[in-house]
Amino acid sequence: MVQQDRVDPAKGSTILRLSNISKNFGAVSALTDIDLEVRAGEVVALVGDNGAGKSTLIKVLAGVHQPSSGKIEFCGQEVSLHSPSRALELGIATVFQDLALCENLDVVANLFLGHELSPWNLDEVAMEVRAWTLLRELAARIPSVREPIASLSGGQRQTVAIARSLLLAPKIIMLDEPTAALGVAQTAEVLNLIERVRDRGLGVIIISHNMEDVRAVADRIVVLRLGRNNGVFSPDASNQELVASITGATENSVSRRQDRKTGHNNELGGSTA
Ligand SMILES: Nc1ncnc2c1ncn2[C@@H]1O[C@H](COP(=O)(O)OP(=O)(O)OP(=O)(O)O)[C@@H](O)[C@H]1O
Ligand SMILES: [Mg+2]
Repeated sequence: MVQQDRVDPAKGSTILRLSNISKNFGAVSALTDIDLEVRAGEVVALVGDNGAGKSTLIKVLAGVHQPSSGKIEFCGQEVSLHSPSRALELGIATVFQDLALCENLDVVANLFLGHELSPWNLDEVAMEVRAWTLLRELAARIPSVREPIASLSGGQRQTVAIARSLLLAPKIIMLDEPTAALGVAQTAEVLNLIERVRDRGLGVIIISHNMEDVRAVADRIVVLRLGRNNGVFSPDASNQELVASITGATENSVSRRQDRKTGHNNELGGSTA
């Protein structure tokens, strides 16, 4: 049931549109009236402080949580994401932060786990060829597809998890903190991979606390604060604007320090904040 890569929606067309999505956990309002749009061939970064509602929003889109109210449209049709399998079936794939890979199995086994080419008669050769083709298309640096996951680096594991989600030919892929545990070179590799996924015409939603990564890869930056939309920015927005939107403060020590570093705000240069 593994499908060939299809890139249906025209680049720039809206794949996903959320309107007025709210999610309450008992008395806690995790999300209130969230609007979000994701188009084919763009990377949307979802940023916000701890507790802003980013993971909750991703879980609503992954079919893990049901929204309390609001509307979700996928390729122009209103949909109900009542289960994770429904989200996957529509073409919404999620790479959760823990990656959910099996340490003792090799790369091919992990890529095809649960969607083997012919489950009753494992076609190892066909799966290996397909694995190599996909990883080559993504220019992934994996030494061997017969290597167990346990021996791969953090960046390589992230690559395998992303490749795995692409096998079901999704239209949207969501990544929760894909670079959080990675060093400089591995982060660059994963960001390159995200660009390649975008170039295949997918919509990408990435959650990150790292503004440098966000600027490097995002086409749009969507800020959540206290469970609400709090601004949409282009990647060339200043740190001050972004930090102000994330924290709700118009000026604070983080934005002053960052802007001093990047030379945006020289008149504050003498401050010790
Ligand atoms: N299952 C749950 N039950 C009750 N409250 C929850 C649940 N999941 C999330 N929340 C609450 O919803 C709010 C948003 O949490 P969420 O995990 O979405 O934030 P986040 O933006 O992902 O934060 P972080 O950057 O720390 O991961 C928080 O107040 C959190 O306590
Ligand atoms: Mg979170």
